[in-house]
Amino acid sequence: MQASEAEKPRIVILISGTGSNMVAIAEAVKAENSDNGIDAEIVGVISNRPTAEGLNKAQAMDLHTDLIDHTLYASRDEFDHALIRMIEDLKPDLVVLAGFMRILTADFTRYYEGRLLNIHPSLLPKYQGLNTHQRALDAGDDIHGVSVHFVTEELDDGPNAIQAIVPIFDVDNAQLLQQRVHEQEHIIYPIAVKWFCEGRLTMKGSKALLDNKPLPTSGVQLDSRD
Ligand code: GRF
Repeated sequence: MQASEAEKPRIVILISGTGSNMVAIAEAVKAENSDNGIDAEIVGVISNRPTAEGLNKAQAMDLHTDLIDHTLYASRDEFDHALIRMIEDLKPDLVVLAGFMRILTADFTRYYEGRLLNIHPSLLPKYQGLNTHQRALDAGDDIHGVSVHFVTEELDDGPNAIQAIVPIFDVDNAQLLQQRVHEQEHIIYPIAVKWFCEGRLTMKGSKALLDNKPLPTSGVQLDSRD
């Protein structure tokens, strides 16, 4: 029997920019009955930037949107508490950071621990922080990639659920590499969200578990070179 709308896991997505990962997840939710579909409901897309392109994309997909402009708050604490209140109004089971360009306070990350996912464009724990593509090139790496991880207090440091590996070619620059990584983001983020919504992906202590089995430090690895 099909779960009624009220019983579906409720997802809130936070964005700051183009929102292509939000769209990838929303498309998987729309395709809920297909093999890769996600049986869940996106109850809100929240941006901290009024100009975020992703807001228009969410509205075009008939998703509820909210704006909370961080520049109107005196401190990070005040902003994060207001953000929690806005998210709580939507009663989410899962909060998804999809290009949300704000460092979150420990109050926020603790509040949502175990139900807060992020996507970061590197093979974490390598290259936490910004400019990951250029840093991988500068280091002479021959592979790079992207990670979906649970968010903990430390920036870009929570346990990985899934990673995708991409090759680095001699002719690459940061832009080419970013495009290659972005394609993989749109594959692995919906997978991680689907696992979570099916109750298969959980966090216990400092570990991510899939089907109750602790995942390796990398999480599940997909290798786009295969
Ligand atoms: C992605 O590169 C993601 O890895 C990073 O922010 C970017 C968001 O892109 N965290 P988009 O807004 O989903 O297109």
